[in-house]
Amino acid sequence: MGGNGATKTALKDKALMATNKKPGKWRRRTQAVRGGQVRTAFQETCEPLIFTAGYAYDAAEEAEARFKGESPGFQYTRLANPTTTMFEERMAQLEGAPAARATATGMAAVTAVFLAGLKTGDHVVSASALFGSCRYVMESVLPRFGIACTFVEGSDLSAWAEAMRPETKLLFVETPSNPTLAIVDIAAVAKIAEKGGARLIVDNAFASPALQRPMEFGAHIVVHSSTKFIDGQGRAMGGMILCHQDFLDENLHQFLRNTGPTISPFNAWLHLKSLETLELRMKQHCENAQRVADFLAGSKKVTRVLYPFRPDHPQHNLAKAQMDGGGGVVAFEVAGGKPAAFRLANALGLIDISNNLGDAKSLVTHPETTTHQKMTPEARAAAGVTSGMLRLSVGLEDAEDLCEDLDQALKVA
Ligand SMILES: Cc1ncc(COP(=O)(O)O)c(C=O)c1O
Repeated sequence: MGGNGATKTALKDKALMATNKKPGKWRRRTQAVRGGQVRTAFQETCEPLIFTAGYAYDAAEEAEARFKGESPGFQYTRLANPTTTMFEERMAQLEGAPAARATATGMAAVTAVFLAGLKTGDHVVSASALFGSCRYVMESVLPRFGIACTFVEGSDLSAWAEAMRPETKLLFVETPSNPTLAIVDIAAVAKIAEKGGARLIVDNAFASPALQRPMEFGAHIVVHSSTKFIDGQGRAMGGMILCHQDFLDENLHQFLRNTGPTISPFNAWLHLKSLETLELRMKQHCENAQRVADFLAGSKKVTRVLYPFRPDHPQHNLAKAQMDGGGGVVAFEVAGGKPAAFRLANALGLIDISNNLGDAKSLVTHPETTTHQKMTPEARAAAGVTSGMLRLSVGLEDAEDLCEDLDQALKVA
């Protein structure tokens, strides 16, 4: 390395060079490792963490040109950041999306899509099997702005069609849903949306792009909580919006820049690097979850097991058609309702009680009293959440240790 002056000049000349690779030719596993990477003049092999709020300009004229959009470069991390841009570009490649924007959390992504995509008088149709906070945004936030929402049973295609109104602009599904792992036919609902001049949003947090790419089936917008399987180790919050260029240009771009639900560059860097191992991790999550689901189904104390790749899942064939694996989450019901579910959770010695999911560590949740507690009993029933239900996010431990832990806890339940 030369002296400080030489370094400074080199950085100015070559800062943030593209890596001279051709992403169009890469398969998904390569995109997950290489997609979107840029290097600074130091030619580091690991993607750089550019942890800065602001950027300097050589002259006032340059600042003016950059603000006018006439000169490339970054202005302020609320607007864009090189590390965050790498995360967005890699996610866009993996999801097959024309555009991507990262957000601070998954809920920031969901809320931004609604607020940027809707105006007073518009209408939303959503599947009723939903994460509690998504339901809150639609049921309690949007109506304050004169936006109505209709909830339908996600597997009932005629209910989707009947709920459409001339003012319907967005349709929303989680597939698989939290926590009941309901599967919605993305291609069929996307067609209903298009017929009505609306867009379909798919929350892909449970599958991740390693197992499902909703845009391949016609979804118009994809949202993620990258806090979950993308991070994969329960460390950092993050979200992502993937969309077409027209939605970005006309709705999202200025909204995000000016309202500021920006992800920290540090979190973006963690999630960018996590994408490199996403497919390997998801494969193991799926293998472990399938083993645990089959084990639970063999217990007399378990009255119901929900796992998309088990043949007894109500939408098993659909899950197989649109997913490459059943995912890392299993929902199950124990006989004896909430007291039995609590006894089981409290007796677990390896699996932690936690409302997070998508971690390398297995985590169990009682949705009725935690993630879905704020819903009305009717909304909870429509979402399929029962008192005896537990959601198990199956981690990357040895599946036999997980089964042994569940076995001894089921004896207590
Ligand atoms: C399906 C789904 N969507 C969105 C979210 C919200 O994500 P975050 O916690 O990153 O805001 C969650 C969180 O559990 C979720 O399960």
